[in-house]
Amino acid sequence: MFELKWLWKNLEGDRTRYILALCLSVVGSSLMIVNPYIGQRIVDTFIANDNALQNLTEERGLLIMLCLGMIGFSLLRTGLAYLTTMQYEWSSQNMLYRVRVFLYNKIQEQDMNYYDHNRTGDLMTKMTGDLDMVRHSMAWIIKTIIESLTIFLAAVIYFFTIDVELTLWLLILSPPIFVVAYIFAKRVRPMYVDLRERLSQLNTTTQENISGNRVVKAFAREEYEVEKFSDKNVNYSKANKTAALVWLDYFPYLETFAQAFNVILLLAGGLFVMNGRITFGEFAAFSSLIWAISNPMRNIGIIINDIQRFFASLTKIIEVYYARPGIVNEHNMVDKRRYSGGIEFDHVSFKYGSVEVLHDVSFKINPGETVAIMGSTGSGKTTLVNLIPRFYDVSQGRVLVDGTDVRKLELDELRGNIGVATQDVLLFSDTIDGNIAYGDPDLPEKDTIEYAQLAAAHDFITKMPEGYDTIVGERGVGLSGGQKQRIALARAMAVQRPILILDDTTSAVDLETEEHIQKSLRELEYPCTKIIIAQRVSTTAEADRILILDEGRLIEEGTHAELLAKRGYYYEVFMLQNEGIGRQVTEHGKE
Ligand SMILES: Nc1ncnc2c1ncn2[C@@H]1O[C@H](COP(=O)(O)OP(=O)(O)OP(=O)(O)O)[C@@H](O)[C@H]1O
Ligand SMILES: [Mg+2]
Repeated sequence: MFELKWLWKNLEGDRTRYILALCLSVVGSSLMIVNPYIGQRIVDTFIANDNALQNLTEERGLLIMLCLGMIGFSLLRTGLAYLTTMQYEWSSQNMLYRVRVFLYNKIQEQDMNYYDHNRTGDLMTKMTGDLDMVRHSMAWIIKTIIESLTIFLAAVIYFFTIDVELTLWLLILSPPIFVVAYIFAKRVRPMYVDLRERLSQLNTTTQENISGNRVVKAFAREEYEVEKFSDKNVNYSKANKTAALVWLDYFPYLETFAQAFNVILLLAGGLFVMNGRITFGEFAAFSSLIWAISNPMRNIGIIINDIQRFFASLTKIIEVYYARPGIVNEHNMVDKRRYSGGIEFDHVSFKYGSVEVLHDVSFKINPGETVAIMGSTGSGKTTLVNLIPRFYDVSQGRVLVDGTDVRKLELDELRGNIGVATQDVLLFSDTIDGNIAYGDPDLPEKDTIEYAQLAAAHDFITKMPEGYDTIVGERGVGLSGGQKQRIALARAMAVQRPILILDDTTSAVDLETEEHIQKSLRELEYPCTKIIIAQRVSTTAEADRILILDEGRLIEEGTHAELLAKRGYYYEVFMLQNEGIGRQVTEHGKE
């Protein structure tokens, strides 16, 4: 089976230990029949024997040996059990650790399309609950199955050596038990797949609620969120109960069968003892080992439940394990080049799924140029710049950097040549200093300060209680929108890449601050092609060229003066923004 092969593959490094654990399980459980055997000898020689008293005096040594043997084997079994559990724990924990690291790396290397289609809560479930379930199965469920099977077989073999017919009478119950168990397993499997899905929904709701707590509070929707959570919680709980209750439908049959073992033993065994076919001691051995046959039958439901959970979780993990990013490295280069920063879009179209959002876009940016991109909301600006670092691949056409199709470039090298400040700013829960130096952890402190100054962030940072050492919360909580943007800008500049992409990075800062930032960008001391997405004419005016996007098409291109002269979209935006300013000034004057 594929899943088991996968487990075996991932046990590499601990296989010997795991096999040792399995062997110890087999040995430990086989030893379970030793004490009943010794018991049988004691009963037959010293209790249910006509010469019991004589034997007691003549063979006292044997009795002592047998009693010591019983104690010795019990101790040995306890020691073995300790050792076995340790091996299972050790090997399964090691495997868990390795797979977790692997999955984490795997998730890191996925492209944006993957994140568009996989919910965070679901990925979290895979990385935590599912992995733990698999480990638990490796350490406990497989152990229980192996031990139950061994003791079952050992008991059956031992019984056969005593009396074949009596053993067969007992085993007559096994086939119907297995049929019932099989039907149960088939019925319960889809329930556990469903259960696993509901758990993932519950986690997704929790995660979204926690990360979106500000919006929840802003709209005073706590009650609604609690209800939404309760719904998922009830769903999960119901599914859990249903799955658990299914077992109860089958439990009475299995319990009856399990009890029937004792009845058959009493009837048939008793008869055989009276006939003198088996001795009292042999009957005692049957009696003391009958649980080895009936218990696995009793536990079969619990084991099947766990196995179904195990496979439901394992399937989910394997999905991540073998997920292949659509965007991968073409080849593996060791030395990374520094690009000169030329960019070309050659008849580029792009689709999200089946919806085309960029249509036949072509333009060229020379190294060192500053190009502004403007366009109404949803026109495809972010999508367009996302194609340069290959966050997504084009559907048609080509994106070229330094004259080479980005799909032919080494991904790490390409991304290592681009500094990006994304539209929705994400800062990590770290110090401000750590956030600015995120792309280059070796950035000297003086450079951190320098880039913060260039991004007009130094002043507000120094006013914070701990300056650059101030810890910002998750996603930059504790900072204003404009402050976050400026830190993100400093972070993008600090990596000193030959291509710098700023997506709406100054939308939340005031005009004076923006002016400062523009000056810094003009005067950056390293050569750099800049692509600046902006809505304000004040931001775009100084660019070497401006591209106007409208519904995924490039409709205008030129300098500020050229576009104004064209009297198209840009001109209209310019007039609108200037009229706006004019009107504000007049209204203010009237007051
Ligand atoms: N991950 C995605 N999956 C599917 N469609 C998307 C995705 N991201 C964006 N879109 C769609 O693509 C179109 C262009 O979006 P894009 O984010 O590029 O616009 P934009 O010009 O950057 O807008 P804004 O100025 O509001 O940032 C929109 O219609 C949007 O709904
Ligand atoms: Mg955008």
